[in-house]
Amino acid sequence: MSTIAVLGAGKIGEALLSGLLHGGRSVDDLLFTERHPERAAELTARYGIAAVEIPEAAKRAEVLVVAVKPQDIEPLLEELAPLVGADSLIVSLCAGLPTSLYEQRLPPGVPVVRVMPNTPMLVGEAMSAISAGSHASARHLAVVTEMLACVGQVIEVPESQQDAVTALSGSGPAYFFYLVEAMIDAGILLGLPRTVAEKLIVQSAVGAAKMLAESDEHPVLLREAVTSPAGTTINAIRELEKHGVRAALLAAIEAARDRSVELGRAHE
Ligand SMILES: NC(=O)c1ccc[n+]([C@@H]2O[C@H](COP(=O)([O-])OP(=O)(O)OC[C@H]3O[C@@H](n4cnc5c(N)ncnc54)[C@H](OP(=O)(O)O)[C@@H]3O)[C@@H](O)[C@H]2O)c1
Repeated sequence: MSTIAVLGAGKIGEALLSGLLHGGRSVDDLLFTERHPERAAELTARYGIAAVEIPEAAKRAEVLVVAVKPQDIEPLLEELAPLVGADSLIVSLCAGLPTSLYEQRLPPGVPVVRVMPNTPMLVGEAMSAISAGSHASARHLAVVTEMLACVGQVIEVPESQQDAVTALSGSGPAYFFYLVEAMIDAGILLGLPRTVAEKLIVQSAVGAAKMLAESDEHPVLLREAVTSPAGTTINAIRELEKHGVRAALLAAIEAARDRSVELGRAHE
């Protein structure tokens, strides 16, 4: 099994390390780098994983997972360039950064796989979409798929679809949180105590998500099953349609896609 080093163990980097441990990886096969010694010490105390400097990570690990903010990428690539080669595998979790950026800054032939994960990685329920750069083979994709399967589900998409993926599943959890927040407010409006409204909506969200994931039914059919003639649900649906909620979601996700494209261009 290959050694994996996470470069930048912030929220997503830590979630990945934790998921890999839960998935059965040994602490001896994992490394991470961090800028702040206090943060490094905190993570080592929590997981037993060694913090190292970037040259040591590049020397010891076959898989280097880049999990820094996109704005921190340039100095990191400058540091990595003399340390990696065609036998390394770079896995980028950075929103909006194309594999071509890594290929331009790193030596020729370095394989790069781009990933768009999402925050449910924290609870082992990530949706990660992966795309191969021009030097990444089917074997490299298999290594990345096996690694990410420890923290959720994995799908392969052409890199040209990664901006759409970022808008849909990368930001997707935020849309659901927003919806839940608004529905809790509705409960308050109807006079329910906040704790009761929260419990009702969160469990409804969990139940609905489970039905969506476990049944083969299309969401339309699941909704129709709770929409009886002249009932309460159809009255609510009429209001959602009247207020253009479907059109708002289409426009919102399109705007997120456009922003992802813009972020990628900033590094051209
Ligand atoms: N969070 C999400 O929902 C999400 C979803 C999909 C993809 N992503 C991607 O995941 C990446 C990380 O996001 P995040 O939310 O985990 O960010 P984060 O919490 O800020 O984590 C990044 C970590 O990397 C450290 N770092 C920066 N430069 C470094 C370097 N040269 N060497 C070592 N460590 C370095 C940062 O230290 P400092 O504290 O000093 O800055 C920070 O601890 C981003 O590119 C983002 O686009 C995030």
